[in-house]
Amino acid sequence: MKKAIKNSTYLIIFLFIISCSKEVKNTKETEISISNEISIENDTKIDSLISLMTIEEKIGMLHGNSMFTTGGVERLGIPELKMADGPLGIREEISRNSWANAGWDNDFATYYPAAGAVAATWNPELSYTFGNSVGQEARARDKDMILSPAINIIRTPLGGRTYEYFTEDPFLNKKLAVPFIVGIQDNDVMACVKHFAVNNQETNRGTVDVQVDERTLREIYLPAYKAAVTEANAYSLMGAYNKFRGNYLCENDYMLNKILRDEWGFKGIVVSDWAAVHTTVKSLESGLDIEMGTPKPFNEFFLADKLIAAAKAGEISEKEINKHVKRILRVLFQVKAIDGKDRIEGSIATETHYKDAYDIAAESIVLLKNDKNQLPLKLEGVKAIAVIGNNATKKNALGGFGAGVKTKREVTPLEGLKNRLPEGIQINYAEGYQEKYAPKKEVKFGDVTQERMGTVDILDAKIVEEAINAAKNSDIVIVFAGSNRDYETEASDRASLALPFGQEELIEKVLEVNPNTIVVMIAGAPFDIGNIKEKSSALVWSWFNGSEGGNALADVILGNVNPSGKLPWTMPKQLSDSPAHATNSFPGDETVEYKEGILVGYRWFDTKNIEPLYPFGYGLSYTNFEFSDLKTNKESYTDNEIIEVTFNIKNTGDFDGKEVAQLYVSNPESSVEKAAQELKGFKKIFVKSGDSEKVTILLNAKDLAYYNEAKKDWTLEKGAYILKIGKSSREIIKEISINIKF
Ligand code: BGC
Repeated sequence: MKKAIKNSTYLIIFLFIISCSKEVKNTKETEISISNEISIENDTKIDSLISLMTIEEKIGMLHGNSMFTTGGVERLGIPELKMADGPLGIREEISRNSWANAGWDNDFATYYPAAGAVAATWNPELSYTFGNSVGQEARARDKDMILSPAINIIRTPLGGRTYEYFTEDPFLNKKLAVPFIVGIQDNDVMACVKHFAVNNQETNRGTVDVQVDERTLREIYLPAYKAAVTEANAYSLMGAYNKFRGNYLCENDYMLNKILRDEWGFKGIVVSDWAAVHTTVKSLESGLDIEMGTPKPFNEFFLADKLIAAAKAGEISEKEINKHVKRILRVLFQVKAIDGKDRIEGSIATETHYKDAYDIAAESIVLLKNDKNQLPLKLEGVKAIAVIGNNATKKNALGGFGAGVKTKREVTPLEGLKNRLPEGIQINYAEGYQEKYAPKKEVKFGDVTQERMGTVDILDAKIVEEAINAAKNSDIVIVFAGSNRDYETEASDRASLALPFGQEELIEKVLEVNPNTIVVMIAGAPFDIGNIKEKSSALVWSWFNGSEGGNALADVILGNVNPSGKLPWTMPKQLSDSPAHATNSFPGDETVEYKEGILVGYRWFDTKNIEPLYPFGYGLSYTNFEFSDLKTNKESYTDNEIIEVTFNIKNTGDFDGKEVAQLYVSNPESSVEKAAQELKGFKKIFVKSGDSEKVTILLNAKDLAYYNEAKKDWTLEKGAYILKIGKSSREIIKEISINIKF
């Protein structure tokens, strides 16, 4: 009950702050710190526990003693620290000593929409819902830590983990990460925010050395981590696999000690990614607290026997070791793993959690094109609907290494339609294309040649014929195409933006025999759908969308839900238009230099005037929204002031619906390089058909600053700034100018 009150208080406050008001933000921060700040009230107890521990017992807490636990000290009442993967839900139980599943029959969980879907909702409240819901599931499985959220910036559309991450934009990223973490941690479980940081490709992820300038690091790659620490009070972070400026990220003094702890005041623990540790004393002294890894005798880890030997040889002080043990004990107390009175027990795979998954999925679906108003489907006189495509029945809960979930419920698109369509309508299902893989192939990126997953892209004539017949014999056709979680996966980036398995050809053939065709893409990352966009008049984008994904999709297709998702990244017309590829700086070899600098995602497209296939922030609705009366409360502001931006949104169509109003800012007079515009605020708002709502977005003048490398600080320049309100980064409706003066 206490928790419920705390959560709802948070939510009420949260509804206010989506637009980042200083005043309200302070209220939110106070609220978060009341609930989440790591307490030092047990420090005396912790110090006395440490004084009773042997060096072996202490070091036992600093490394994995099984695949997903670290050692406890039973005689002192210190339990193991129990972790679970969790980006799409709590992962099935893994054996203690290998990656094999533990064979439990009670580890079924809710499969939640992937982070890309959460980001497409542009709804921080739903991000909290996800965190809170999955936090409860973690507790029901008796876990202390969830290895989630994953908040790396999407630098290339080819990234194998794009679906696991939120977005290409640092502002949207942090606005979603903070409530997600708070939601998890409201349940006496630690979020482990990963992968800290600049881990933006899978290619050579275990070795590649990322070179990125300081301003770009601060403006693009770090803001969400900073907010995770300073606003959400994250209890733990996961160090990434790769190197940054010559040092592995799990032994990177600059990132782990200087930035994370000294600058941001992080009090939690840093856990390594699995087998991402390379040294003993250096790792610990550089700020790593726990080494986790892949199967080998756990005492052979760098922070196991080798550390005991180093301590005994005087190569590292016991004081240093105590520091890390103390941090771990603090967070164990914080989540009530020790002294666990009133610890939340949690619940798993409940109807409430499935509903949470549904709510996220329903707001994540993006309507890309609806030129002839084919959607929502008009069922009058319709006798048969053809459902075509392997993705109509493909399940996506499992797969993708750490991001798999064992679930009893995954409603596929075909099942969703069967659940929602009136009984009299016949469904003609045909597979159309098949998911088939070929031996790996060599792909050239600039000067680098690498191996990539191969696919069979030639269609099977008989299966195509079945699809064509189904299309001919139906009034409406819905093709479910895209990719899946075998094709998009951790540890490998994609070879290209091309749709695999011959799908494009299939869609063309279907459109030829029945133009009343709706194409639904199910994928986690951008694909080249230029041709499909041109040929079809109705195009929908869905995601790896959780246990209720099929029902949510059917509800959008049938108009029970008015789509309100917006793309959280830019869909390029061609790969070479994307910044990392245009600058020939992906994937590098031993080193990758982020040559595009601050111009990541739409910042590049807008600054260089390159037209994307679909822009960042894009998504249609079944209704129309008109924006008017854009105003600011003043014309000039000093650096400590809040800019209050107000405007009206009128729903002029026939459907009730939600719009995401986006606030971009330009600073054309700047003395330094700036992106053409940057997202600095947004608000998702429900407006009934025919009604108007007044929208207020509050912007802290300080947030208009850029990172000044020479000063090692943020600099707010005086002069004119243009505030733009729009429906996407490329559909700006109104602009207004303000001045910064001091
Ligand atoms: C991934 C992490 C994951 C860990 C444990 C690593 O390969 O990078 O995201 O949490 O494995 O499964």
